[in-house]
This record gives sequence, structure tokens and C-alpha cells, in this order.
Amino acid sequence: MDLKEAAAKVRENAYVPYSKFKVGAALRGASGTIYVGCNVENVAYPEGTCAEAGAIAAMVAAGETEFTEALVIADSPTPVPPCGGCRQKLVEFGKAEVKLTMCTTDGAETIMTLAEVLPGRFDASHMERT
Ligand code: THU
Repeated sequence: MDLKEAAAKVRENAYVPYSKFKVGAALRGASGTIYVGCNVENVAYPEGTCAEAGAIAAMVAAGETEFTEALVIADSPTPVPPCGGCRQKLVEFGKAEVKLTMCTTDGAETIMTLAEVLPGRFDASHMERT
């Protein structure tokens, strides 16, 4: 199964009674294993989690801390970009040159690197004086 197929499949399981906006995400771990996640909302709205966060949690729970490719898909008019918080979560586990493919369910795609989606990222170097 490729990343897009995996993300499209898990997207169907998204729990979205509030937004009705289903998102699927897939990561290819450095081992080659694919990890998936979908958004899981909550009646206390800020407690909901994004698809990307779910995929990252699945990867880390399986014992991997690096991915080499990422993909996110939703039924949006233009390819769905990760929210700001998810961009920061993604760069924790993917190198700057890793490609992120953003997709619509009807076939549109935009590909950017992690460095492009989060320029000027906060990283451990900013804490060097501590
Ligand atoms: N959402 C994601 O899961 N990932 C994104 O990249 C953008 C937004 C979810 C959060 C919420 O469940 C719904 O989409 C609407 O914001």
C-alpha cells in the first residue's frame, strides 16, 4: 500500500462529529513501515487531535522516531496543509528535506519540503544558552 492509499483509507475512520471534516495522514518511517492517523475530535473542542498528530503517535509508539516521507489528504477545495501546530510536530521527526504531499480527495496534490512549510522553525539550538 502506498502512502496516499494508506492515508485515504484511515481518513474514513476520522471521528469528526463537529467539523465533519475528515483528514487522513500517513508517514513512512525510516524502516519503510507506514504509520497512519486520522483526526479525532472531542466535544471539548480543543481536546481534539489532528490526523498528523495521530500518525506521529503511532510511529513513536511502534518504536520509530524518524520518517522519510509524509502525506495528508482531505476533501478540501485545494490540497490540505497541516495546521501550524502540526508543522512543528512534523519537523520534530522529519529532516528539512523530507517531502510532504498535501492532497485533495479528488486528485490535486502539492508537494513541499518540511523546511518550506515551516521556515524559521524553533529547534533545540535556540536553547543552547540554558
Ligand atoms: N485537521 C487535521 O486533522 N489536520 C490538518 O492538517 C488540518 C486540520 C483537523 C482538525 C479538526 O478535526 C478538523 O480538521 C477541522 O479543523
